[in-house]
Amino acid sequence: MIASGRGATVTDVDGREYVDYGCSYGPLILGHAHPAVVEAVRDAAGRGTSFGALTEAGAELAERVVDAVPSIEMVRFVNSGTEATMSAIRLARAATGRDRVLKFEGCYHGHADGLLVAAGSGVATLALPDSPGVPAAYAEQTLLAPYNDLAAVEAVFAAHPGEIACVIVEPIAGNMGVVPPAPGFFEGLREICDRDGALLFFDEVITGFRAAYGGTQQALGVLPDLTALGKVIGGGLPVGAYGGPRALMERMAPVGDVYQAGTLSGNPLAMAAGRATLDALRAHECAYARLERGLREAAAAAGATVSVARAGSTLTPFFRDAAPRDYAEARGSDTARFARFHCSDARRGGTPPAEPVRGVVRLARARRGGDRSHPGGGGGSAAGGLTARATHPLSGAGVFPAPGARAPAPGSPEEESVHCRSRRATRILVQR
Ligand SMILES: Cc1ncc(COP(=O)(O)O)c(C=O)c1O
Repeated sequence: MIASGRGATVTDVDGREYVDYGCSYGPLILGHAHPAVVEAVRDAAGRGTSFGALTEAGAELAERVVDAVPSIEMVRFVNSGTEATMSAIRLARAATGRDRVLKFEGCYHGHADGLLVAAGSGVATLALPDSPGVPAAYAEQTLLAPYNDLAAVEAVFAAHPGEIACVIVEPIAGNMGVVPPAPGFFEGLREICDRDGALLFFDEVITGFRAAYGGTQQALGVLPDLTALGKVIGGGLPVGAYGGPRALMERMAPVGDVYQAGTLSGNPLAMAAGRATLDALRAHECAYARLERGLREAAAAAGATVSVARAGSTLTPFFRDAAPRDYAEARGSDTARFARFHCSDARRGGTPPAEPVRGVVRLARARRGGDRSHPGGGGGSAAGGLTARATHPLSGAGVFPAPGARAPAPGSPEEESVHCRSRRATRILVQR
């Protein structure tokens, strides 16, 4: 049971301190109790906790989202990622007049009934392919394909022409462990959707303001029709959002005819925390490549075969010799070894995420009392076992390299500087 958190660490009720790799499943990109976020929440709470109306903080957070995320012209705030994906799918169905949704095996999009089909995250960890209580009629509307498999997507569309409202996808899969998209995967999805009249829906609940400030879509250059956000944009308070082109978003009530509402949506505390988080992010140094390098060095020192898949600040050490390309490969990694790593790191005061859930990293120092033995500190290893090898060509980069570009060695100082440069470029775009 956790009593408190500060920066990169949490303390349990018995006073034991842990390095926190989980970060509340992702929102705490700045770490626990970041002073700017605490101050923003305190200030907002002193002026009233809910109005059921727009606030200045809400309007300013919306402006930051619209400025940063290339495909979003209009955004609607809700209270969770689940609400965001669920509501956006309703909009996709209304806009296309179709019922079916295509999702990818191992991708998790929240716990709405129709999306709890071959989901990753806790569902995969518990080896529950579906949840009891989901009506078969809902699940039937959901079609499945393996991640990174365009031929399978083509086959699904061929079997259901003109029936699919949208393709929902984690643009960097995170809920089966980090699995970056294969080159050309999203260009292919975009083309298939356009040909069939389906909408492309990026679930950037994890990747928004992580893979790059403007989300994976900014890094990829492929624009979806709909985007879901959550986690980071609430700075640790309950939030979700969905957005897209104005013409599409204006189908939502009260302007349009598609109903969705929420008593606490746009809550001023969450809006203030999100605004403070995004402002701090724009001004922050980059640290993610250092953690990846530390894990690689630790694995090599331990003689362990580990591939570290990383995209921006999401990261998974896979106990296999190359990073996986899909759910089947992710599940084929040495999970017994991962379990030993997990337990060993937990004993040493870390809280690594349970596979296949992704690790998410916060920009807070993970060094306690000058101890550099933690993988993030670049020293010794908890990785017991095998040789660090090359990983997926995309996974080492903070954002995606230009097509044909030589990727710097994963975790190298050169790679770290690419990541830093890309963040600076992002910052310039955002300030434009
Ligand atoms: C990609 C993705 N989408 C949606 C969700 C659901 O978000 P929430 O837990 O805020 O409902 C999650 C949660 O982890 C997620 O990882």
